[in-house]
Amino acid sequence: MIRFDNVHYSTNNINIINGVSFELRKGDFTALIGANGAGKSTLARLCNGLLKPSRGAVNVGGFDTALVRTSRIAKFTGFLFQNPDRQICKNRVCDEIRFSLECVMEDRAEIEMRCERTLEEFSLDGERDPFSMSRGERQRLVLASILATEPELLLLDEPTTGLDYRECMHIMECISGINRKGATVLMVSHDMEIVQDFAREVMVLNDGELLAHGSTKDILRDGPLLASASLLPPQITELAVRLGAGYENVVTVDDMVSAVKKKREGAE
Ligand SMILES: Nc1ncnc2c1ncn2[C@@H]1O[C@H](COP(=O)(O)OP(=O)(O)O)[C@@H](O)[C@H]1O
Ligand SMILES: [Mg+2]
Repeated sequence: MIRFDNVHYSTNNINIINGVSFELRKGDFTALIGANGAGKSTLARLCNGLLKPSRGAVNVGGFDTALVRTSRIAKFTGFLFQNPDRQICKNRVCDEIRFSLECVMEDRAEIEMRCERTLEEFSLDGERDPFSMSRGERQRLVLASILATEPELLLLDEPTTGLDYRECMHIMECISGINRKGATVLMVSHDMEIVQDFAREVMVLNDGELLAHGSTKDILRDGPLLASASLLPPQITELAVRLGAGYENVVTVDDMVSAVKKKREGAE
């Protein structure tokens, strides 16, 4: 779905991405982690053709982003910016969703049907003015507008920043749902708990270089790797590493509960 071949990106003579290569397959759920300024947002923008590599090649859904129009990539890609307010352009919730659908399809009946369905699924009031809603609600609206188009590829830049726990879980369940239906997800996040609970693979970016790309379990348990990218492991994996034997496969809280139960049963 996405292939980077030795990608470099620089602007104003500053190198932001330095020789990054990786491949995401259809249906992957990958998190991109790294400290502030590591180049995560830049890498996400390289994925949807908003930025073109200075050197190397980016291939998305079979298209070389340097050779194809960005609008062609937008037909099958949903992109959530770090700040939802940069994406909202209409005064009514239903118009916002409709607008997003109109960008990728023409059938009026289909657009209206999807618009209604999306309002219901996301418990949104179609008549409201987006700018009178809370940040969490606006984030939900932007995500709803994107998901209404059923993109094959979902690029999310910090989708849960500024949300409370409930809003965060609701949004992550929606993202998980579309991934289960087959969409490929690349999610920038610095919330290690979210990464641990939802992503199956993780890429670690530091100073524009890709330090690692592997399973969530392997990456989050690698303390020295995370430290070299100025990141801290989530509490659960840190504890699991310290507990040692019997806790090798612990990634989530649920895993920890099962591992503790197993140990107890073994001791009895
Ligand atoms: N248009 C730009 N001009 C100059 N520097 C930029 C520009 N965009 C990003 N940068 C710099 O590139 C680095 C990576 O930025 P970014 O991709 O936003 O990182 P992240 O999302 O990981 O915080 C930062 O040091 C940032 O200051
Ligand atoms: Mg960023």
